[in-house]
Amino acid sequence: MKEFLLILCLLLTVTFLPAQSAIYSSASAHHPIVAQDGMVATQHHLATDVGVAILEAGGNAIDAAVGVGFALAVVLPRAGNLGGGGFMLVHEAASSTTTAINYREKAPAAAHRNMYLDAKGEVDSQSFNSSYLSVGVPGTVAGLLHALDKYGTMTVDQVIAPAILLAENGFAITHDLASLLSKYKERLSQTPASSALFYPNGTAPEVHDVLVQKDLAWSLKQIAKRGHKGFYEGPLAKKLAADMKANGGIITRKDLKKYRVSETPVVSGNYRGYEIASMPPPSSGGVHLIQILNILEAYDIHSTGHNSAETIHLMVEAMRRAYADRSEHLGDPAFWDVPVEGLTSKDYAAALGTSIDLAKASLSDDIKPGQPGDYESEETTHFSVVDKWGNAVSNTYTLNFSFGTGLVAAGTGILLNNEMGDFSAKPGVANAYGLIGGEANAVQAGKQPLSSMTPTIVLKDGQPILVTGSPGGSRIITTVLQIIMNVIDHEMNIAEASHASRIHHQWYPDKLYHEKYFNVDTKKLLMEKGHQLEQRAAMGSTQSIHLSKGLLFGASDPRRPDASTRGL
Ligand code: GLY
Repeated sequence: MKEFLLILCLLLTVTFLPAQSAIYSSASAHHPIVAQDGMVATQHHLATDVGVAILEAGGNAIDAAVGVGFALAVVLPRAGNLGGGGFMLVHEAASSTTTAINYREKAPAAAHRNMYLDAKGEVDSQSFNSSYLSVGVPGTVAGLLHALDKYGTMTVDQVIAPAILLAENGFAITHDLASLLSKYKERLSQTPASSALFYPNGTAPEVHDVLVQKDLAWSLKQIAKRGHKGFYEGPLAKKLAADMKANGGIITRKDLKKYRVSETPVVSGNYRGYEIASMPPPSSGGVHLIQILNILEAYDIHSTGHNSAETIHLMVEAMRRAYADRSEHLGDPAFWDVPVEGLTSKDYAAALGTSIDLAKASLSDDIKPGQPGDYESEETTHFSVVDKWGNAVSNTYTLNFSFGTGLVAAGTGILLNNEMGDFSAKPGVANAYGLIGGEANAVQAGKQPLSSMTPTIVLKDGQPILVTGSPGGSRIITTVLQIIMNVIDHEMNIAEASHASRIHHQWYPDKLYHEKYFNVDTKKLLMEKGHQLEQRAAMGSTQSIHLSKGLLFGASDPRRPDASTRGL
């Protein structure tokens, strides 16, 4: 007996205690979820449950991610979707490769450069952001099914079944959804289909009421039965196109039938010995994340410290220069020659760094887009999934604004995106996020609007160590940046990294945005350097998984309610 206890003690000391001490630190106020055999982090607990159930049933990370994508379309109507688009990074353990799936919306064939300008040549914001003309050809269903087909192990039927149940039987409305449905009642009551869906009794539903979506269940069943064609051809496509035609939209059945996903290499960089794999254009996310990290690598950020005036000053100057370049150089690479190699090169970052004055803020008026070619060598949602084999998915998808256009296509339960609003309706004029775009992002038939979505996987020696991403419009890039810096530079655990207060700068407006709790001394020092500070709403809703010492550490951003990370 004595010997048995001794062996048990030794086993606990050798195998359990080191792992425990890696998990919990008495210095930390925030602790991640810890697991060993898989993890799912999403912005809605019911979608997280769907992902975990798929992993428990033997599915891999891709099966679970696709199940989550369909489930969020039901339970998170503000951003989860069938009628939008997005980007997915897949790390396949067996081949040790990371790939990027582009299922961003496309401009329909009838779209053209000046379609959002009024008689005076000014941007008509209603038509640009909130009308049937704002809708891009949706890519979500094609993207999710492409991932499942190529990297999953389960059938469409299997992974979509939980979403069908949630739509058909309904789910309890949370405080967050109830308050959004009340806030956006006017926007979401523009069509009989959207009023019937969200306000069946004429009033905004209460917390705990059950939201049933029969039409959406029908649409999901079309996809379950016929896969890609169930959405892009046949009765569902017919309903979508008819709804468009009846309301002045321009998406046709031909546009839907023509939609194809593309799969490309990730855009990659290197930060302090870690490989950064992220989304290439038509997202600007990966390119500028790497550009900013490259500029910051020249400084000892660990020593200057988290959210000190010195660190924030450097971050802002790097962000300012990257967003200036974004305005000029970024667009759909199928239509515009984007200098990705130059923008992500260390030499270009070093050249940009020479104009940074450590003592004084630059003026955005003095910062113009650079010449990277010379160096050639308000609502979205993110989820992250890792399985026990080491496969990982980082997915960000969107309808653009909260609930997209707010318009539901009759008979489908599908909310329509307003992604055309991410184009530059008039090059040089800021869009709804205050982002200035150039010719590179002008409207063109078949083109994909520029995005800021930044699904990212950080690797060390070819193995993923961090899977992350966020919603937040123009702030997505800087939010993901801060998660990476918090983990690598400031050695925070992933819960601390997700909680830590955030800042943002995007060249124009020339403002250093910060969250509510921002140290007054830091603020004073930054103002002395010449920064113009402004408090803004909480930034982002990251869903992150950190892989370390054979364990998975996860955290859902506390900034949005209803999110959940679970492991198994
Ligand atoms: N609609 C936000 C983005 O794609 O960046």
